[in-house]
Amino acid sequence: MTKLKGKKILLGITGSIAAYKSAVLARLLIKEGAQVQVLMTPAAKAFITPLTLSTLTRRPAFSEVSSEESWHNHVELGLWADAMLIAPATATTLSKLAHGLADNIIVAAYLSARCPVFFAPAMDLDMWAHPATQENVRRLLSYGNHLIPVGEGELASGLVGPGRMAEPEEIASYLSKYWQQEQSLAGRKVLLTAGPTYEAIDPVRFIGNRSSGKMGVALADAAAKRGADVTLIMGPSRLSPQHPGVKTIRVETADQMFQAATRFFPDADISILAAAVADYRPKEASAEKIKKKSEGLTLELVKNPDIAASLGKTKKAGQLLVGFALETHNETANALEKLEKKNFDCIVLNSLQDAGAGFNVDTNKISILHKNNKIRNFELKSKAAVAEDILDEVETLLRQL
Ligand code: PMT
Repeated sequence: MTKLKGKKILLGITGSIAAYKSAVLARLLIKEGAQVQVLMTPAAKAFITPLTLSTLTRRPAFSEVSSEESWHNHVELGLWADAMLIAPATATTLSKLAHGLADNIIVAAYLSARCPVFFAPAMDLDMWAHPATQENVRRLLSYGNHLIPVGEGELASGLVGPGRMAEPEEIASYLSKYWQQEQSLAGRKVLLTAGPTYEAIDPVRFIGNRSSGKMGVALADAAAKRGADVTLIMGPSRLSPQHPGVKTIRVETADQMFQAATRFFPDADISILAAAVADYRPKEASAEKIKKKSEGLTLELVKNPDIAASLGKTKKAGQLLVGFALETHNETANALEKLEKKNFDCIVLNSLQDAGAGFNVDTNKISILHKNNKIRNFELKSKAAVAEDILDEVETLLRQL
């Protein structure tokens, strides 16, 4: 866990019985070489004392933005940190974080923080399952924050189920893994497709789909952050990757995406095809705007090139090809069929049956299916976190090549 060495961590502790575990967590982080600054809500002090925490961290634990003697600058705290970790995060705190209600030092520092933010919820199972809590979690994920999944087991209420805060060791290793990824793809060439394609009907209209490009852009940024040389071939989308290292090639049609992908594929070590490519296009696009003359209009469609299948055919040893499947029914069977047919090394399945997954949202819920029928299911996460999961899986496959 040496990846925590020298990292500055803001540890936010809120009012849950799980707060007693935060003392163990603070000690673990410090043992691994991190500097830990504790922030507490007033409610947390009923469960663990600031004295315990300040003794363990060798820094005063702050529970108020200001007191009679001093003012704790939440902006400076937010900027100081390499990561903010809120553990335990109660239902109330999740709600405040999701809505920017800065009535305590944790939410105030969170709003000022420019670093990655991790939250480890802790509450009773019905509170965790409530749509209001789940909506707040979705909202927090959509802002790019990281959820450390809850555990299952006996809860303070005596009920048994999901809602327990993850164990301190799990939380520390989650953070450590986050930093471990740095530069792990240095020297690798990554090719990505993203967004929709537009197939012209006439100069005004087109056949398209609801893809925003968010999933592909998140993958591009995450791969570039890991040091890869990234080429992103993107259909019509308002988005751009934030990482300056990503080379973006803008295309409109499936055919243009096919041409560009075919050009870059031979040099790519890893190709991930997140684009929602139109399978068909109008046989002929009218040169002029089609006028409304008759009661009906029939469009003749012809098949577009299947980019994935074509790349799958020319794939060489040492190259990894990862596909996506967006399904609405028979999800696993359909995805496995695509995995086989298109010669993918693995396929990322997202289903429109899952709330918060798929097109045009900031979150996704995926499963990764492998050739040996191994399936890994993931929780609902921000697309940024989903991109990290996909790249972790890709790196595991790379090591096995
Ligand atoms: O862009 P977002 O709003 O963030 O949404 C993300 C997403 C939902 C578009 C993405 O997560 C996703 O699922 N992309 C695949 C969409 C899809 O429907 O794929 P498919 O089942 O039609 O195709 C299977 C695979 O073949 C995909 O990797 C696709 O890129 C590829 N394909 C498909 C057709 C074609 N002509 N050429 C291809 O390369």
